[in-house]
Amino acid sequence: EPDGLTDGLGRRFAYLRLSLTEVCNFRCTYCLPDGYIKRSGRPSELTLPEIERAVRAFASLGLWKVRLTGGEPTVRSDFDAVARAVAAVPGVRRVAMTTNGWRLAENARAWRAAGVSAVNVSVDSLDPARFAAVTGHDRLPAVIAGIDAAREAGFASVKLNAVLMRGVNDDELEAMIDFVRLRDISLRFIEVMRTNDNPAFFAERHVPGEAVIARLEGAGWHRLPRAPGAGPAVEFGHPDAVGRIGIIAPYSKDFCATCNRLRLSADGRLHLCLFGDGGFDLRPLLQDDSQHDALVARIRALTATKAPAHRLHEGDSGATPHLASIGG
Ligand code: GTP
Ligand code: 5AD
Ligand code: SF4
Repeated sequence: EPDGLTDGLGRRFAYLRLSLTEVCNFRCTYCLPDGYIKRSGRPSELTLPEIERAVRAFASLGLWKVRLTGGEPTVRSDFDAVARAVAAVPGVRRVAMTTNGWRLAENARAWRAAGVSAVNVSVDSLDPARFAAVTGHDRLPAVIAGIDAAREAGFASVKLNAVLMRGVNDDELEAMIDFVRLRDISLRFIEVMRTNDNPAFFAERHVPGEAVIARLEGAGWHRLPRAPGAGPAVEFGHPDAVGRIGIIAPYSKDFCATCNRLRLSADGRLHLCLFGDGGFDLRPLLQDDSQHDALVARIRALTATKAPAHRLHEGDSGATPHLASIGG
């Protein structure tokens, strides 16, 4: 695919976020506070052959980066095999994963060997009790051990995600800065996003990313130039720090203008945006290799209809119950 996949607004899609499961073993307060509950009538997760056909189609359209996400992708017992298969698809140059880190320390080497080269880990607090209160699991030391194991295992990129929450972790900026001072990682604060399941939580806890930016700039952090094809984070560096601090602020102006990603849900729906559409079922086109051309044509046609931006500002989270359903 010479010029890759674009939409009517000139946005270019090089990045596929592939949700492997909507199941998660954590129960984060902003996402799945009651833990994962299977909604009735949900079809099952894509099988490995279905995943391979999907990734072949997206890769043939020029998508070269694939992020394995969820839910928690590593609860799938065939996670390593899926990673290997995705990494082997012609045209796929980078396989990344997003995890809550619960088994990262033990598995970092194996996942690296399976072809995953970048890992993002959710760490909402560096205080063990707060971490347990947010996630429902007293696992902070294990997750930090996992982060350091990933660095030692040679991942090209290790990033942390901390969802910014008023009265929960909005006093941890200094501790987080300290954490990246000697570690070559990027720690990104994510503005909590309103989903259909968390409006009360959102109203109580949402803090605009600008608050963090102002404090960073006051402490000598400077905005780093945006790399071509970079993700949604605005990143900051400091002369005395090896690592970087980033902000993902979906409520800020023009956030969607540089969108470079498409999403496939665990059951095979193409989501053109994290919010808004309910997904377009590609599964019927994933049943046989002979459907490849039809699948490619369908993805291309759907992508042309991608909306200019989400409508979160208007309090409209579309059809998104929680982010585990689509993979964030
Ligand atoms: P990389 O740049 O590849 O590291 O990807 P990333 O930062 O998008 O990956 P990650 O899975 O760590 O995403 C972090 C979180 O940022 C997601 O779970 C979402 O909460 C948020 N996010 C990522 N992409 C989008 C997007 O397109 N729209 C919105 N609104 N939020 C996003
Ligand atoms: N708002 C912001 N971030 C969220 N995540 C999950 N739900 C939300 C939400 N409502 C984040 C997780 C994780 C990433 C995959 O998505 O914290 O870091
Ligand atoms: Fe699980 Fe991630 Fe949702 Fe937390 S944010 S409950 S780790 S899917």
